[in-house]
Amino acid sequence: MQQSSRRLTVRTPQVENDADEFGAEVRAGLTGEHKTLPCRFLYDRRGSELFEQICELPEYYVTRTEREILENNADAIAALFPEDLAMVELGSGSSSKTRVLIEAFLRSNGRLRYVPMDISKKMLVESSEALLEDYDGLKIVAIAAEYSTGLRQLGREAIERKLILWLGSTLGNFERKDSARFLARIKATMTGDDRLLVGIDLRKDKAVLEAAYDDAQGVTAKFNLNLLVRINSELGGNFDLRHFRHEASYEEESGRVRSNIVSLREQTVHIRELDMYVEFTAEERIHTENSHKYSLAEIDALAQASGLRVTQQWFDSDDRFALNLFAPA
Ligand code: TRP
Repeated sequence: MQQSSRRLTVRTPQVENDADEFGAEVRAGLTGEHKTLPCRFLYDRRGSELFEQICELPEYYVTRTEREILENNADAIAALFPEDLAMVELGSGSSSKTRVLIEAFLRSNGRLRYVPMDISKKMLVESSEALLEDYDGLKIVAIAAEYSTGLRQLGREAIERKLILWLGSTLGNFERKDSARFLARIKATMTGDDRLLVGIDLRKDKAVLEAAYDDAQGVTAKFNLNLLVRINSELGGNFDLRHFRHEASYEEESGRVRSNIVSLREQTVHIRELDMYVEFTAEERIHTENSHKYSLAEIDALAQASGLRVTQQWFDSDDRFALNLFAPA
């Protein structure tokens, strides 16, 4: 399917039925001994909006820090790519940080092709239209899909030279082994001149991390619990949100923040469309996401395991976050 205006093309290569897929994953995740729900379902329309609010929170340094790095180095990054370029972005969301780079490329090259990919089609189309209104030299091919489908679609686009962006430390949401595998899949779409720019959150103090993933205003709690809201509205569940809470805990050794939904009491939840009853003991957890933090040595090892090498690295003034430019090894 394709939808075009003069400077915007939207591709929706996703063929699966989203509703069936959500149901199947919820059933699988809530049936096992250790309950889980896949984190990609956090990002429906409402979830994407809540995540944008998280990015503005005082405790959530991740977005602000990455933006600071981009602002300080955007012109230097653009100068590395003097020829015409397509800038591809995985998980573009509102594209608000990306504007910093778009502006730098437009300053240096006068024009830019931008290929944002996002799982939330509404967010993708809205942010693409807003960008086109603000920037004349921009052309957009927007791909509404999950990563794997989106990467396959990327292979079908006629793109000469590209810079792929993967910002927000989303890489940290993969298990360490899986992140190397996924980077290798990105690498498979790259020619020798293509580059990959990845934001990676660094290991740091436990208190800082736990506050970032469980803020005082409770926005992150709402974001995480939105998974239950989705099950209620899309699958006819009867989760009572008063009887669940959000939890985030940092495990120093493995270097990851685990996000859970905790049942506050013994209870049974019915999910009508799945014809399923789910029993919870008091304090039982549904694991929803891991956010892995990296040391510089771990970033090098990751690059190596993926067939990539780090060619440049930029940091913020407090060394909380790393922006990494990878090239095929
Ligand atoms: N990629 C973000 C991160 O790991 C996503 C995120 C932020 C998140 N806060 C969260 C996911 C809380 C689940 C729960 O930083």
